[in-house]
Amino acid sequence: MGQALEIDILNDTKFVTVNYETKPNAAALQWLLPEQTAGKKKPFLFSQSQCILARTWLPCQDSPSVRVTYDARISVPKDLMALMSAENPTKKSADGIYNFVMKQAIPSYLIALAVGDVEFKAIDARTGVYAESVTLEKSLKEFEDLGKMVDVAEKIYGKYEWERYDLLVLPPSFPFGGMENPRLTFATPTIIAGDKSLTSLIAHELAHSWSGNLVTNETWNDFWLNEGFTVYFERRIIEALYGKDYSDMLALLGYQDLQKDIEEIGANNKDTKLLLDLRQRDPDDGLTEIAYEKGFFFLRTIEEAIGREKFDIFVKEYFKTFAFQSMNTQKFIQYLEEKIIKGDKNIAEKIKYQDWILGVGLPSNCPKTTSKNFENVDLALKSWEKGEKKDSLMSKFKLEKWSSHEWLHFIRHLPKTLTIKQMESLDKDFGFTKSGNSELQAAWYVLAVRFGYEVAYKPMEAFLLDVGRRKFLTPLYTEMVKTPKGKEMGKKIYEKSRKNYHSVATGTIDALFEGKK
Ligand code: BES
Ligand code: ZN
Repeated sequence: MGQALEIDILNDTKFVTVNYETKPNAAALQWLLPEQTAGKKKPFLFSQSQCILARTWLPCQDSPSVRVTYDARISVPKDLMALMSAENPTKKSADGIYNFVMKQAIPSYLIALAVGDVEFKAIDARTGVYAESVTLEKSLKEFEDLGKMVDVAEKIYGKYEWERYDLLVLPPSFPFGGMENPRLTFATPTIIAGDKSLTSLIAHELAHSWSGNLVTNETWNDFWLNEGFTVYFERRIIEALYGKDYSDMLALLGYQDLQKDIEEIGANNKDTKLLLDLRQRDPDDGLTEIAYEKGFFFLRTIEEAIGREKFDIFVKEYFKTFAFQSMNTQKFIQYLEEKIIKGDKNIAEKIKYQDWILGVGLPSNCPKTTSKNFENVDLALKSWEKGEKKDSLMSKFKLEKWSSHEWLHFIRHLPKTLTIKQMESLDKDFGFTKSGNSELQAAWYVLAVRFGYEVAYKPMEAFLLDVGRRKFLTPLYTEMVKTPKGKEMGKKIYEKSRKNYHSVATGTIDALFEGKK
């Protein structure tokens, strides 16, 4: 998908020069007007190259199996700063000119650029945050554990190879939660919840510094090698920082996401295999929770079969051996056979990698996940269903101590149908409509649409007008298109908000309204 650029070379050709111009509508790029930013005064530009959009803004061999170093000279208006997935400035330059060098070889999908009125503040010697000045202080607070995260990650799987690890907080239209651009993770501002509850997403992007950025999926069919390892590593970082009860909650929420996706795409669908077949398709269409969560549970299966100690040695060596190389599923199987299975039938039987990699659905040896915290939530739900009042629930189940993960589990497990009265009373007691937590808002608004709880419609519209994160847009618009009345409302909202979304998001939502998804 794209256009081949064929260049005839001679036997002794060492360099070719390609002069090119990028069109303003390049799909990777989103050009934001001042009012679409947090500060509302200066325009903003950012790129999103994964999976196959790097080719829309620069000529490249746009396959994750090819690595390049790069340098760039970027000229921008003097009141803006330019940043890349490279060595970055910490101050605006006087002349608006920035020179970048990325000396480590990376795949094209990790080439990234952002331009905006941003400022930098350090967290410690190797980590820091770039954000618009109105978001900088709360970003610093939210991400104050950044340095610790890198330290902890290094202790688990070896040296951090990219020198600095900084964060760029983007305007809310950023279509993803995070993007692991090397040295500079791009992040949605919707994870700034005020209580650090959504920062596991940063642990995820940081983990990609090993799985993905060092050892890279050779093709998008092998995407699980990027994301499965990353989710596994993310939860190890979170466990080390905040304890097992916390990472157990994340694992169980992940399991729920996985179940839901398998149900939606069908347990016999080929896209539920870890090894995908994306020939003739835009890889973006084949990417589901399978790579992430089935990948995670596969790695957990291996961990449980051989014990954490041996598994960690294996993973550490894997990252070291294949650093700055690409990896495919076949090569991974070979490595697994050689380092772990070693002809041992008993271990092979425990792991059953064929079932995971080439089989559809969820294998029977999938590890069980439980969460102590969620068991408490389940009890609270039962009591709520029996009509127990807020005060009594509060004291019995310690609701004031709940994190947003517990609340998300609560919202997800409310009864299959709710009356307007029940929605009202939930909202009055727990304030979901006005929650400052984007995960809870998104989950609650889906219920609001489903059960016709109109009080939440205006706030939901405001949310959809502001936020362009596809993970939130898709379930909300999907719920709206289910009924004629909802579809009408959805269309009206989309007409207003579409201009605020990146092409990656409009691609998905357009298809939804056209009935293609
Ligand atoms: N690399 C992905 C984002 C991505 C995947 C962009 C495929 C384009 C195509 C990133 O690391 C990611 O997985 N982000 C997640 C968050 C994560 C915590 C699951 C997201 O954006 O929701
Ligand atoms: Zn990821």
